[in-house]
Amino acid sequence: MIEARHLTKVFDLSPARARRTLDAGPDRARAVREAGGVLAVDDVSFSVERGELFVIMGLSGSGKSTVIRMINRLVVPTTGSVLYDGTDVGGMTPRQLRGLRNERVGMVFQHFALFPHRTVRENAAYGLKARGVPRRERLRRADRALEQVGLGQRGGAYPDEFSGGMQQRVGLARALTTDPDVLIMDEPFSALDPLTRRSMQEQLLELQRDFRKTIIFVTHDLNEAMRLGDRIMVMRDGRTIQLGTGPEIIARPADGYVHDFVSDVDRTRVLTAAAVMRPPWVTAALGEDPAAVLARLERSRARGAYVTAPDGGIAGVATPEALSAAAAERRADLEHCLGGDYTAVPDDTPLVEFCHLTGGHAVPLAVVDRDKRLVGVVPRARVLDAIASAAEDRSEHA
Ligand SMILES: Nc1ncnc2c1ncn2[C@@H]1O[C@H](COP(=O)(O)OP(=O)(O)OP(=O)(O)O)[C@@H](O)[C@H]1O
Ligand SMILES: [Mg+2]
Repeated sequence: MIEARHLTKVFDLSPARARRTLDAGPDRARAVREAGGVLAVDDVSFSVERGELFVIMGLSGSGKSTVIRMINRLVVPTTGSVLYDGTDVGGMTPRQLRGLRNERVGMVFQHFALFPHRTVRENAAYGLKARGVPRRERLRRADRALEQVGLGQRGGAYPDEFSGGMQQRVGLARALTTDPDVLIMDEPFSALDPLTRRSMQEQLLELQRDFRKTIIFVTHDLNEAMRLGDRIMVMRDGRTIQLGTGPEIIARPADGYVHDFVSDVDRTRVLTAAAVMRPPWVTAALGEDPAAVLARLERSRARGAYVTAPDGGIAGVATPEALSAAAAERRADLEHCLGGDYTAVPDDTPLVEFCHLTGGHAVPLAVVDRDKRLVGVVPRARVLDAIASAAEDRSEHA
């Protein structure tokens, strides 16, 4: 849906001078600085899928806001380009660009001004006025947007009756009035207290689930990034340091900088069953000979085997006892030695929700995908390892 290609932005130099300075190659950051410019964004590329919640994370000054402003060309890139649905934003006519900014891409910022003497409904409708939408239609759309952010009944109130969180909702509603395809949000919740912030995050996730907006969300808070982001791009000094899902970044931080960042995160909420599982030592298919499966089990350290049906789903668990009984009776398949002594969780379950389920059976906890197919197991020791490495990180910081 949105593709950023090699975006680079130099401030405080003429475009021609900036481009010449960038030719310095790997030394360009210094060359720009020496020429008196600021290399705010340095060769950043990424693409955002339709319906994705894409997070850009980094410390103050890392270039996050500059990147998102280049997406709708509020900032003109020094080099590089942005494609919106395959169309080069740099090649758009002023009229197309206005359409993009006014209708297809909504923006929400950390601080934005509500008009104190206008009702919340009028505030939400504000952006539509400049677009020449008739008053009645403006208010209708404002009401619908207020509904979407949970303020449906409050349109007649005035902003000073609202808490910070509610005001921020009005800002979100304002961006939603045009029913944009894409929402760009620049640290929208940073000024809110932790509880309000949390509930705004929930609301945003709900909104995205219900309306499938494509969202680009800027934050410097890693926990927020992890909670919200389908994928997260970590920036530092204008460059992309890492791009991946939350669990990927936690499990394999690209460098010391990201590692320091992620060591403060509550891993038990970020790591999913998929991130900590390993393949089972022994599995068997329903039609197999019990004696053969027993032989495999005895050669391994496993205390039971998950038996899968032809569709990959778990048919049950076969223990050595059941298998030897079946073998003694010369059974031809595993049908008769299956027990139900196991627990399975979906692969996207966070650690905090399944750690108490490990260790309860002879076989480790099973992990299944969306189609209920067995994709891995989590023995108790792996949970302890995952939590212990988090504790280790914390003590390094203490
Ligand atoms: N209009 C501008 N003119 C000159 N320099 C700028 C301009 N806008 C940003 N910069 C500089 O570019 C760099 C990146 O700024 P940017 O605002 O994109 O960072 P950010 O990651 O959004 O930071 P924050 O978290 O503080 O909002 C900084 O060094 C900043 O001072
Ligand atoms: Mg910023």
